[in-house]
Formats: sequence, C-alpha cells, structure tokens
Amino acid sequence: MRERLRAVRLLLAFPFKVDTYRTAGALLLIFCGQLAGVGVAIGLALTTDGAVTRSGDRAIPGIAIFCVSALLSSLGNWGSFVLQTNLLDRATLAVDLELVQLTCSIEGIEHLERPEYLDRIEHLNQNRQNLVTVPTRAATILASGLRLALTVVLLARVEPLLALLVLAGIPLLLASTRRNRKLIQVWDEVGSPTMRLQYVLRHIAGQESGAREIRVFGIQEEFKRGYTRLWNTFTAAFDRVSLGGALLEALAAAFLALAVGFGLVLVAHQADSGAVTAGNLVLVLTLISQINLHLGILAGTANSVGGSLQTAERLLWLREYAAHDGSPDRNSSSELPASLSSGIELAHVSYRYAGADADALHDVDLFIPFGSSVAIVGENGAGKSTLVKLLLRMYQPSAGSILIDGVELGDVSTGQWRSLTSATFQDFVKFEFLLRESVGVGQLDFVDETAAVLGALQRGEASELAQIRSIGLETQLGRNFADGIELSGGQWQKIAVSRSMMRESPLLLVLDEPAASLDATTEAALFEHLTGAARRASRNAGAVSLFVSHRFGTARNADLIVVLNQGRVVETGNHATLMGNGGYYAELFQLQARSYQ
Ligand SMILES: Nc1ncnc2c1ncn2[C@@H]1O[C@H](COP(=O)(O)OP(=O)(O)OP(=O)(O)O)[C@@H](O)[C@H]1O
Ligand SMILES: [Mg+2]
Repeated sequence: MRERLRAVRLLLAFPFKVDTYRTAGALLLIFCGQLAGVGVAIGLALTTDGAVTRSGDRAIPGIAIFCVSALLSSLGNWGSFVLQTNLLDRATLAVDLELVQLTCSIEGIEHLERPEYLDRIEHLNQNRQNLVTVPTRAATILASGLRLALTVVLLARVEPLLALLVLAGIPLLLASTRRNRKLIQVWDEVGSPTMRLQYVLRHIAGQESGAREIRVFGIQEEFKRGYTRLWNTFTAAFDRVSLGGALLEALAAAFLALAVGFGLVLVAHQADSGAVTAGNLVLVLTLISQINLHLGILAGTANSVGGSLQTAERLLWLREYAAHDGSPDRNSSSELPASLSSGIELAHVSYRYAGADADALHDVDLFIPFGSSVAIVGENGAGKSTLVKLLLRMYQPSAGSILIDGVELGDVSTGQWRSLTSATFQDFVKFEFLLRESVGVGQLDFVDETAAVLGALQRGEASELAQIRSIGLETQLGRNFADGIELSGGQWQKIAVSRSMMRESPLLLVLDEPAASLDATTEAALFEHLTGAARRASRNAGAVSLFVSHRFGTARNADLIVVLNQGRVVETGNHATLMGNGGYYAELFQLQARSYQ
C-alpha cells in the first residue's frame, strides 16, 4: 500500500516538476473543455424552447450560452491537446535523462545480467510516457465525472427515471477495467521479454558483424522466422485478452445502449403527451447521446492510470536499486592509501552468477604482493574474467572478501577504487569516436592533451596509429561515419589497450586477453612493456599489473602466475617453480610448447 501511495505521489508531481505552467494550463483547459460541453446542451435547450414558444427571453440567452460554451469547449479541447502534446515531449526527455542517469549510476553490472531486471528496464523504456500523463488524466476523470453528474441532475429534472441511466453504464466500466488489468498483466509477462528479445535480434542483424555470420550460415530466413515467432507470441497473447475483453465490453455497451433507447422512448412518449417541452427534449437527446461517450472516456482514462501506476512502481524500484542494492557502498568510509605497501588479498572468495547453479569462482585464496606483475592462466571457462571483474568491483563476491592492503574492498567507495584502477576487457568496446577520444576517454581529463594521448598509444604499442591519415589523432574511427575509417581487429584492440594506459599509474591495471588479436611482435613488445611498467610502478606506487593470457609464452615472465581450473586456484608461483612442480601448469605449458615445434 505504501508503495502504491509513493507511486501516486510520484505520478502527480512528475509533470509539475517538468513544467509547472504547462501542466497547470493543461488542467485548466481540460476542465474548461469538459464543462463547456454541458453548457452547449443547456444553450441548445433554451434556444429550442425560445424558438418553439417564440420567446426572445429564452432564445437570446440560449444562443449566447450556446456560442460561448461552444467556443470554450473547442478552446479547452484544442488547447489542452496542444499543451499535453508539448508537455509529453518535454517530459519524455526528462524521463529519458533520469533513466540514463540512473542506469549509469548503478555501480555494479549485475542488473544488466538478470532478465527480470532487464524486463523492468524495458518496461520503463517502452512506457515512459505513462509517467507524465496522470495529472491530466486525473483532471479528465474529474471533469468527466463532474460532467456526468451534471448530466444526471439535468436529466433527472426532466424525468427522474433517466438518472438511472448512469447506473446502466456500470457494467461497461467494470468490463473495461477488467480488460485493462489483463492487458497490463500480459505486457508484464509476455510484452517486455519479447520486445527485448526482438531488439536483440534487430541489433544482431543490423550490425556488420552479425550480418556477416547470418549470411555465411544462411540463416536469414530463420532470423525472420524467429522475429515473427516472437511477434506472434506477443500479439497472440495480446489479442486473446483484447478480443475476450472487447466481447464483454461490447455486451456491456449493448446493455447501456438498450437502457438509453428505453430512456429515449420514455421521453418521446412524454413529449408526445405534452409533458416535456421541445427544449427539454433537445436537452435529453443531446445529453443522453453523450453518456456512452463519457462513460467510455472515464473508463479508458481511469484504466490508463493503472498502467501509469505500474510504470511508476518500476521507476521507484530502479531509483531504490540504484541508491542501495545496485550500489551498496554509498556510505563506505574506508580510504585507500595512495600506494600499496602490502598487496591484494582474496580470502575465500566465491562468486556465482545470478541464475547459475554452480559457482564460477569457488573459495579462492590468493595473495598478490604489491608491485608484482601477475599472469592468470587457465582453460576456457576457468573463471579468469570473473576474477578480473570481481577485482574491478563489477560484482560483489557471493562469499569471502577482497582486501586491498588490508582494507576491505567492500568498505571503499566504488568511485575511489575506479579512480585507482584501469582495464582492458576481453570483450572491449570499439568506441567509434575520434582517435584522440577513443583513447582519451581512458582518462577524460586529459583527452585534449596530445602528449598524454600519444603516451598512452605508445604504452599500448599503438604509436603507428597516431600517424594514420594526415590528421592523426583527429581521425574519425568507425564505419558508421561517412568520413570514418574502419580498423582491423588488432588495431581496435591496440586502441582498447592504449585506453587503459591513459591512467599512468593506477594501483591495479587489468588486461583480460589483451593480445588475442595482436600479432606476435606486438604481443611480445606489449608484455615486455607491461612487465617493465609493473616493475617501475612497483617502485612508485606498489601497483599491480594483472593480465589474462592463453599463451603461456607470455605468462612465463610474470612475477606470479595464477593457474585457475574450474573456478578454483590450483597453482600459484613463478614459471620456474610451477615447471619444477610438474603439475597442471607444467602439463599445459608443455602441451602448448609442443604444438609450436
Ligand atoms: N555473465 C555471466 N552469467 C552467467 N554465467 C557466466 C557469465 N559469465 C561467465 N559465466 C560462467 O562463468 C564461468 C567462468 O567464466 P569466465 O568468463 O570467468 O571464464 P574465463 O576463464 O574468462 O574463460 P575464457 O578463457 O573463455 O575467457 C563459465 O562457466 C561461464 O559460463
Ligand atoms: Mg575470459
């Protein structure tokens, strides 16, 4: 219940926050338009009576009321429509900005891996306009209600039985509410997930890399079929509810129409016997024909408020998640030293991905001394990237703790840790920016400093890219731009590595498979540089460089080699020790060495 109230408060306040004057104006005009509609009917009745009785006393005010009401009604309806459309555009931008800000402010990335969270975010994206329509809809409900009440009073004055007509509209209201409730449910259960999956398919098919594979494997038709299947699932579920509901609504509307017909016969009969004046007959005809319409508006608007409530609850959830669950350390107070003097320790660290039935990392105990270069090796799926992401605090360990110089990482603000770390991920991003920016975003403060960007390119073994075209750093990258150049896979990887080199002395530098696309010379130079840099950094800040590699030849120079197998650390030591042990590492190393002979 408290949740509901908070959602209502949010919905009522949101448009006022976006634009107070436009919202207030729209509300005023809605009332004006609706109530003037009743004035039109009264004006018509007076005019008719005046005409029939040839009385100017009635006809002249009748015409005046009719004209003023008709003018106010058009002005109200048209003006409120324009203001509402305008408000909707502004509010959509405000909601978009809040969504971007909220999703980016979440400090971990777990919310991007849980389908149920993704569905909620998809719902928000698809229905964001729901957040800004409630005050105007509430005004429409109030004004329509008021108009109906006035209609009832006016009808009852002519014939008390006619007042009961509004009661005949109740089944229509109930049927329409029921249909809407079911539609919301279908949207939640089927709509959001299918829309999201359709987006995934569109995204793959729309990208050059996706298009390539789709053609190589000849799966164009299957893609189309898959997309259509999703579409059909969604529309079938929607149609079922819509059609079932529409049938019930049609029955309820027919019942109301019958009741209205009965009312008309009653009044026509009375008019025939002279008990009802011609003016009242016009009044009844005008008002009665609008009952159906206004009950429909009332039901439709009231129902759409139900949809808005659901969207508001999603936004409140996201706000809450961004503030607490997704960013649990907002109040963390521990400070890290500027340089490491002991090292990084993982104590009984386990991690299980959401929805997985086994740990990706299990009970990892590991000490990484300050100033060391560390290689993490292991087969595919051993847990290397997971370990890296935990160290970078993309996730919180499911069990155990990570200590930086004895300070629990969970007690340090994520912002502080992020400013002390840098990384190249296995699935790095190709930022299609200017070359300067694509590298420079690694430390945005220095993006305009040519020496800093060139230095990063040099540390990333990518200096030759600075000579690309005649404009060097100002070259637009990416084929999405008319003047953009496309790079090779290895060149993109060099840019990603250089980006992580923008921070000259991070406490922790992580490179996950940085050499997968690099040629042998560049790879050798990169690792030589890395180990050299690690040693230099160890003298300054005791920094740790950690890289993941499948090539054992590059790992052998690391100070510490960590061997992972099925989520567990099975061996640690330097190359000589591990070879001496004759264990898993030695076995893998020899296997790889043989394949090169
Ligand atoms: N986002 C995720 N959600 C669920 N499970 C995941 C996710 N990422 C990885 N896993 C699982 O966790 C395990 C470890 O994956 P991880 O990516 O850490 O392996 P890796 O050692 O880096 O492998 P590779 O050498 O292929 O990069 C795998 O079994 C994988 O299926
Ligand atoms: Mg990996």
